Amino acid sequence: MSLTLGILTETAPGERRVAIDPPTAARLAKLNLSIVAQKGAGSAAGFPDSEWSEVKWLDTAEQVAVEADILACVQRPPDDVLKSLKSGSLLIGSLAPYNKFDDLKKLAKQGVSIVPMELVPRISRAQSMDVLSSQATIAGYQAVIIGADLSPRLFPMLTTAAGTLRPAKAVVIGAGVAGLQAIATARRLGCQVEAYDIRAAAREQVESLGAKMIDTGVDAETEGGYARELTDDERQQQADALAAHLAKADVVISTAAIPGRSAPRIISRAMVEDMKAGSVIIDIAAETGGNCELTKAGETVVINGVIINGPLGLASRCPLHASEMYSKNIYNLLGLMIKEGELVVDTDDDVIKGTLLAHEGSIVHEKFQDQ
Ligand code: NAI
Repeated sequence: MSLTLGILTETAPGERRVAIDPPTAARLAKLNLSIVAQKGAGSAAGFPDSEWSEVKWLDTAEQVAVEADILACVQRPPDDVLKSLKSGSLLIGSLAPYNKFDDLKKLAKQGVSIVPMELVPRISRAQSMDVLSSQATIAGYQAVIIGADLSPRLFPMLTTAAGTLRPAKAVVIGAGVAGLQAIATARRLGCQVEAYDIRAAAREQVESLGAKMIDTGVDAETEGGYARELTDDERQQQADALAAHLAKADVVISTAAIPGRSAPRIISRAMVEDMKAGSVIIDIAAETGGNCELTKAGETVVINGVIINGPLGLASRCPLHASEMYSKNIYNLLGLMIKEGELVVDTDDDVIKGTLLAHEGSIVHEKFQDQ
């Protein structure tokens, strides 16, 4: 009997992505997997049912879950769907393992192996499986597009018969995956770009994209390559240096984050009050509290003429490419677990060990043992 992979229609508000796109479904079918999908699963992402081949369509998510040996999702499915999963099956997707952990414990006891894609270790070998990176790439791009839309000005320099327009000045705060894509996108639109990150290592990447690094004299890189929280003195030093650059900016894209914590507050009310009327802040960190003190998640507010947008679900604004990249991430991770048409979970493999939350009835991930 071949393994069956299930694909759901996502139900979270505003979610338009699908976990597996039609080309990936076809590749999985070539590995001898049977594919079952909920009717309309890819429609919101731009993949109508007519575009899929070798898929058995089912009416409800519960029907898909009952049949699936592997259930692929973007966001964690509703409880009724999870209850329908059989013992020995595997759930893979962005499962928000830090939220409502008791529900995941229940699912583990049900005998479901749980694979939250957010836990994929950030090592070179696993880059092709890293949904945080692939979806942050989309978010960085989208943030600049929203900024251009909300801005009262054009971004590129234009020399026309009606005069010369100067290029917009963009400041990108946080030069991780999303920030670097924001820099590249702003540059493509013709902005002059400055960027800032507390990891000194980001300088080379920022400069390779043609942007200028803002030097605040603060470096807070930890051994793993991630940022740490700043001391009060460092925060003040950062604020003083950044304020001058923000005051001249036409568009600010802020992406700063510290894994597992709420977003660092970097742009204060006073800094916003010093900015030009008509300038725009797109605060990608809105989902985790915002980098700007005045950000309202999911809203656009205007303070002293400064337009502050706190976008949510950015990857879903570009669902076709977001789904394409997400599917490839899932396909590559599943590739480590499907051997000759069988599900083989090798818990000695570093990538699987770092990602697998629950297996054979219990929580197995070392980070979650005490929860
Ligand atoms: P993230 O989303 O956690 O943070 C975004 C950025 O905000 C980071 O660059 C961080 O240094 C910066 N930041 C945090 N606090 C700040 C503050 N107070 N002021 C200014 N900036 C601040 O990070 P992301 O984008 O997920 O990745 C961070 C780094 O991890 C990447 O640049 C890369 O070097 C590494 N990475 C490695 C991967 C791999 O090897 N597979 C995959 C993805 C990332």
